[in-house]
Amino acid sequence: MRFTLIAVVAGLGGLLFGYDTGVISGALLFIRHVFHLDATMQGVVVAIALAAAAVGAAFAGVLSDRFGRRIVLLITAVIFVTGALVSAVAWSVPILLTGRVLVGGAIGVASMVTPLYLSEIAPPDKRGAVVTINQFYITFGIVLSYGVGYLLSHGGNGWRWMLGLGALPGIVLFIGMLTLPESPPWLAGKGRDDDARKALRYLRAGSDVTGAVADLKRDVMARSERAAPWSELFASKARRPLIIGVGLAIFQQVTGINTVIYFAPTIFQKAGLPSASAAILATAGVGLVNVIMTLVAMRLLDVVGRRRLLLTGLVGMLVTLIMLAGGFMAGLHGGLAWVTVASVAAYVAFFAIGLGPVFWLLIAEIFPLAVRGRGMSLATIANWSFNMLVSITFLDLVHGFGRGPTFLIYAAMTLATLIFTWFLVPETKGRSLEDIEAALEGEAALTA
Ligand code: BGC
Repeated sequence: MRFTLIAVVAGLGGLLFGYDTGVISGALLFIRHVFHLDATMQGVVVAIALAAAAVGAAFAGVLSDRFGRRIVLLITAVIFVTGALVSAVAWSVPILLTGRVLVGGAIGVASMVTPLYLSEIAPPDKRGAVVTINQFYITFGIVLSYGVGYLLSHGGNGWRWMLGLGALPGIVLFIGMLTLPESPPWLAGKGRDDDARKALRYLRAGSDVTGAVADLKRDVMARSERAAPWSELFASKARRPLIIGVGLAIFQQVTGINTVIYFAPTIFQKAGLPSASAAILATAGVGLVNVIMTLVAMRLLDVVGRRRLLLTGLVGMLVTLIMLAGGFMAGLHGGLAWVTVASVAAYVAFFAIGLGPVFWLLIAEIFPLAVRGRGMSLATIANWSFNMLVSITFLDLVHGFGRGPTFLIYAAMTLATLIFTWFLVPETKGRSLEDIEAALEGEAALTA
């Protein structure tokens, strides 16, 4: 019970990520009038936070290795709250952009350190579910932001509240993290064995800690490797995890998920839904499907396994993207427009049981301890950079090629992801982080 509570607090970083991801499109409808922003400047307001997230992710690994996961999450919460408040009171475009940079940077850090911390405090047999609390919060934050956006869309200053309310989960995260212990493997790595043992006892209250203490000892032995330089990340031992981590980071974005998350109402309206409110309703429905299927993934990841869920999800995404492209090319309208909504919902459902959670889970599992922070950092930088690339090119692609062909491009990317996963992604279910490291190292030695 205590453990669940801990994970619920520690996962809140995901809520910051999801809420801000979702809220900006609604807020932008007002901001663009208040500050007279043209299309390019609107793009800048959105993209600058994504770019800042990539920069935040670049620092997250080094900082969380040096100062600890907990301290970094505490500082991140403060930066996030500051950024949300600055954005909310912004009286000029530069101030607004400053707020967006602070918020984006904090999200970039949290998006990496949250799954890292969760993976290090979780027992191996529950790690899939525990790390996926992060993805659950992301999806919940997105739906929450749709709701807030809808409720506040009437008053002229509603956008200030939309952005400012993001401070609340930041405050809860800060207060919550004050009460939580530092990650035991990190403490052990710093030679603080007694603190590590204490943290473990606290985390596993009520259950047997003997096995966990043995794991901890192995982590302590790995301590000497902790100061490994960046070059270690490119050594043969970490090469396969690096290819898998960065590869999945890019594939998670270039298969198009955020075109739906950021532009769903536009997609639905263009598909012929009768009114803006029908489009908003359909968007909310798709958001809920995302949350519910993420909960299903949490149940299945430690039972069915990561690899099988990822492959199943990818096949589903491929089929639904082709259906979606086909629907657009056939020009479905009227009642048939709902076929488009159903395809989008099914596509999101398949993302939510596979590529969504499995990417964040695997990057927290596959890197050797000595370079885990930096390996995750690199994968997270790639994820945010490609998120930005896809978001800023989507409308141009639609304009240049049409909706059908654009979604066929994402389908082709999904096929590539499927092939990549089939040949490269290992199963990590139920294994301790040390076992995974030893197994991947063994394979590297065999192929070196
Ligand atoms: C992705 C985000 C995406 C979200 C949607 C996450 O795993 O990294 O880019 O917006 O899933 O649920």
